[in-house]
Amino acid sequence: METWDAIRARRAIREYDNTPIEDRDLVRILEAGRRAPSSRNDQRWDFVLIQDRDALEKISHVWRGAGHIADARAAVGLVAPTSEDPREIGSINYDLGQAAMSMMIAAADLGIGSRTASVHDYELAAEILGLPADRRLTWLLGLGYPADRPLNPIEKPARRPFDEVVHHERW
Ligand SMILES: Cc1cc2nc3c(=O)[nH]c(=O)nc-3n(C[C@H](O)[C@H](O)[C@H](O)COP(=O)(O)O)c2cc1C
Repeated sequence: METWDAIRARRAIREYDNTPIEDRDLVRILEAGRRAPSSRNDQRWDFVLIQDRDALEKISHVWRGAGHIADARAAVGLVAPTSEDPREIGSINYDLGQAAMSMMIAAADLGIGSRTASVHDYELAAEILGLPADRRLTWLLGLGYPADRPLNPIEKPARRPFDEVVHHERW
């Protein structure tokens, strides 16, 4: 897929079919995350690839909106250092968002769907993934081929109008 098509085709997938994701495709998706830009190139992230069905089911309980992870073929756990500093938290989250989006675009390019899940129960997540005390699971990214229809560029996405969002020179 062309980059522009992958950007327009990506959509949040809730239900996946049973087609496994090839290892080389998973590696490419993770590599896209690893190559993402970050503040001062600090790369304050680790990615935990989860493919075990029991683990996917267990980790889907870290937030009531994370149920779709149980149905995914794989999930990437985005792990970051813990911090109490609001500026640092903002900066880390910006970087994680860039890594996540790179992975979602790389996945869409391969026809693989994705969906973010938030994490609220950090203790449960740490126990399941065996995280050190100074690390926290921040987001999960579910991956799999869409059950409904293949990814194709969306002509009219559910988004605020372009002219409302984009400001020229000043607000
Ligand atoms: C930071 C973030 C957190 C999200 N958390 C969840 C979540 O917990 N559960 C979920 O089902 N979807 C979650 N999503 C997916 C969004 O609901 C979805 O991307 C949004 O509705 C736009 O839909 P689209 O991606 O198909 O354009 C999250 C997305 C982002 C960017």
